[in-house]
Amino acid sequence: MKTGIIVYSQTGHTKQAAERLLQAMKSSGQDAELLEVKVSNPAPEKQLTQLHFVNAPVVDAYDRLVFASPVWAFSLAGVMKAYLAGMPPLTGKKISLFVTHQLPFPWMGGNASIRQMRSLCEDKGGEIVSHAVISWGKKQRERDLSDMVRKLA
Ligand SMILES: Cc1cc2nc3c(=O)[nH]c(=O)nc-3n(C[C@H](O)[C@H](O)[C@H](O)COP(=O)(O)O)c2cc1C
Repeated sequence: MKTGIIVYSQTGHTKQAAERLLQAMKSSGQDAELLEVKVSNPAPEKQLTQLHFVNAPVVDAYDRLVFASPVWAFSLAGVMKAYLAGMPPLTGKKISLFVTHQLPFPWMGGNASIRQMRSLCEDKGGEIVSHAVISWGKKQRERDLSDMVRKLA
């Protein structure tokens, strides 16, 4: 069983969390890879109708997928939204989701973003098996990162 961790990260937090998950999976002998969604827009949050994808990972080779994204404006980051919306069918794939955000509580955009990701993946036939919300504030970060790795690895 091969896992693809597909991450969009503008300032590095979500990538850092994804790398931690990757290390945990590899340490327990799992076959996993990290792939990044990348756009060339300098301020993608202001150009959501004109995104230029320079890397849009193809996921056919993976049995299990993890999609990871930041929260923007109490919602799923528009880059991940567009990437997921443009994906081919995900039928038969087990999918985990996580998001990072700055505010201290998951109901401040994290939960809503997970719901959006869930809906986009389920519309394409994917099965969501686990999810996590990470608050990047100093107080919650370590606890939330550990929880995410425990649930998703
Ligand atoms: C355009 C924009 C909007 C954001 N909106 C929110 C928000 O609504 N709630 C929140 O908690 N954090 C918000 N943030 C903070 C990011 O979600 C947070 O820093 C996240 O960890 C960034 O992940 P990244 O470093 O992987 O890009 C926003 C950041 C940006 C750039």
